[in-house]
Amino acid sequence: MISQHTIQQILSRIDVVDIVGSFVKLKKRGTNYLGLCPFHNEKTPSFTVSPVKEIYKCFGCGRSGNSISFLMEHEKYSYAEALRWLANRYNVEVEETETSPAYKEAQQKADSLYIINSFAQKYFSDLLLNSEEGRDIALSYLKERGFNDTIIEKFQLGYCSQQREAFAKAAVAAQYNTEFLLKSGLVVNRDEQLVDNYRGRIIFPVHNQTGKIIGFGARIIGKNDRAPKYINTPENEIYIKSKILYGSYFARQAIDRADECLLVEGYTDVISLHQAGIENVVASGGTSLTSDQLRLVKKYTNNLTIIYDGDSAGIKAALRGLDLALEEGLNVQLVLIPDNEDPDSYVNKVGKEVFRDFIAQNKKDFVLFQLEVSLKDAGSDSNKKSAVVNRIAETISKLNKTEDFTKQQDYIRQCAGLLHIDEAGLNALVNKFIRERVTKQENKAQAAEANAQSENEKVIPDLADDETFSLLNKDELVERNITRALLEFGAYEWNEQQKVYDFIFGELEENGLDELIDNKQMLRIIETYKTWVQNGIDPSPKNFLYHEDIELSTLAVGLMDTQYELSHNWKEHYDGPMPTREELYKEEVASTLNYLKLRKIKRLIDENQRDLEKIHSPEEQLTLLQTHQHLKQLEIELIRNNGTVIFR
Ligand code: UTP
Ligand code: MN
Repeated sequence: MISQHTIQQILSRIDVVDIVGSFVKLKKRGTNYLGLCPFHNEKTPSFTVSPVKEIYKCFGCGRSGNSISFLMEHEKYSYAEALRWLANRYNVEVEETETSPAYKEAQQKADSLYIINSFAQKYFSDLLLNSEEGRDIALSYLKERGFNDTIIEKFQLGYCSQQREAFAKAAVAAQYNTEFLLKSGLVVNRDEQLVDNYRGRIIFPVHNQTGKIIGFGARIIGKNDRAPKYINTPENEIYIKSKILYGSYFARQAIDRADECLLVEGYTDVISLHQAGIENVVASGGTSLTSDQLRLVKKYTNNLTIIYDGDSAGIKAALRGLDLALEEGLNVQLVLIPDNEDPDSYVNKVGKEVFRDFIAQNKKDFVLFQLEVSLKDAGSDSNKKSAVVNRIAETISKLNKTEDFTKQQDYIRQCAGLLHIDEAGLNALVNKFIRERVTKQENKAQAAEANAQSENEKVIPDLADDETFSLLNKDELVERNITRALLEFGAYEWNEQQKVYDFIFGELEENGLDELIDNKQMLRIIETYKTWVQNGIDPSPKNFLYHEDIELSTLAVGLMDTQYELSHNWKEHYDGPMPTREELYKEEVASTLNYLKLRKIKRLIDENQRDLEKIHSPEEQLTLLQTHQHLKQLEIELIRNNGTVIFR
């Protein structure tokens, strides 16, 4: 985890105009900035960035948020990834907390590998573009295949020399550690000597979501039956094949815009389609899709279109991932490229327009396609055929969401037709699978509900039919006021020894936090604030505004919204010279706390009163009366030194 100190440093440097401005062209309009919304298509700008409020908002599509949520939405980063991106941009060193030594070590290993890969990419690209060998052998080959300079640079393609150890020597001379060089797969050990692993090959760097190079694919030039066509990076700390979709770094925004992800098999397919202006495309490397890869797609879109060449072994592999895809709620379609072409050769042959049209017109539903394939496999074997029926019924049952109901019915009708079986029968079979799953889920849900109910029962009876309580509860505003005062002024000085938060926490503790504050959400903010203070941080509203927990950040934003009303009120109700801000916040804190204490006393008095109305022994009666007097006394004192209670 990234430490709060680091987050604090990052937040203090965040500039929403700078961050959003690096992805969207912004123009100044008054105090705000205006641009074309990156989240929907528009011709007149309605996307506004407010440097004062540190937020953006689109008046066209309604999307809004802060710098971090912008990076999360636009770049599809996780919260932590967004923070790291910001740390990098503002030169903040990232400090990790709660890291086990093992985690730290893995982190260091990963960093070393990233650095070596970055060095290697530059080395290979330089060789491809600037050396005689590279230009003669590799660049000419790429040009012959139709790749232009721009695309070669964009994908950072490179070339590894035919010499035995040119790269290894350069890497050792640059002081890279042998252990990591071997781990990266860039070099191998031959008779106690480091030699290059990708000799004489074109280098395709593989980028992760944030654009860092995690590994390489190295393609042999031309044809050679004695050597493998590609050599890939071996699995290591950062190259985890099951999680990789080649090209996702370059495709993510196009996928977002098109709301569709095209999936192809190979590196060259991705690059050629990009060159043709079709950028929402990634490659799986020809193996069957893993759930990690599907989840990656789902971050961007629900629509996955698989584009494979007609007789590729890859189709069968991809088919195996189908149920997983349906469970993830993905809409999967398939396009087969004709005539022994693959997407790369086909787009080069027919051009962008025809290619696009072909894809649009030849999309086949993947469920139906699977059925056709397995029916062909089964032939006239009736055992195999009934297995196919069962299998397809189970597949269809996975689409058991309300919004997918029509789709499910469509499938049942079409599949029954293809299978030459009774539609009602297939329907029943699908329902059987659904029932089985629902029963399983219900059992789980019942257990969870039973838990939740007992929780609720603890709270509700206290509140029920208690007029006084609910009346008192209406001035929850004061609870909000103290929380907001904490957020806004917490880190200010209270006196020479104390900060405002010291004072507030002292008072809250002395009177019982739970007895002063009812609102669970305010309690959460206060508790979170406290934890930060205990960790040596002086939190600011920013810490909440950018909190990972969206609920907390929304709460804090809600609180901050009313801050201007408060000062406005002050002006209206205050005669004489305007007090300094210093005096203001102390007044505010003190009077708000006083009000809360007063409310508590009033509640106790009411409670006592109700108790008195019941029948008691004379001794009990006396005690209750004494308590009443004592409470009244406290009330009077509080009102007295509360000359300026602020009600809003
Ligand atoms: P292809 O054989 O279709 O290669 O394998 P390609 O990328 O289209 O290359 P060209 O167009 O022939 O030059 C598809 C993908 O399968 C993986 C690679 O990821 C490749 O891009 N593959 C293939 C390997 O990892 N190793 C191999 O030996 C072959
Ligand atoms: Mn190819």
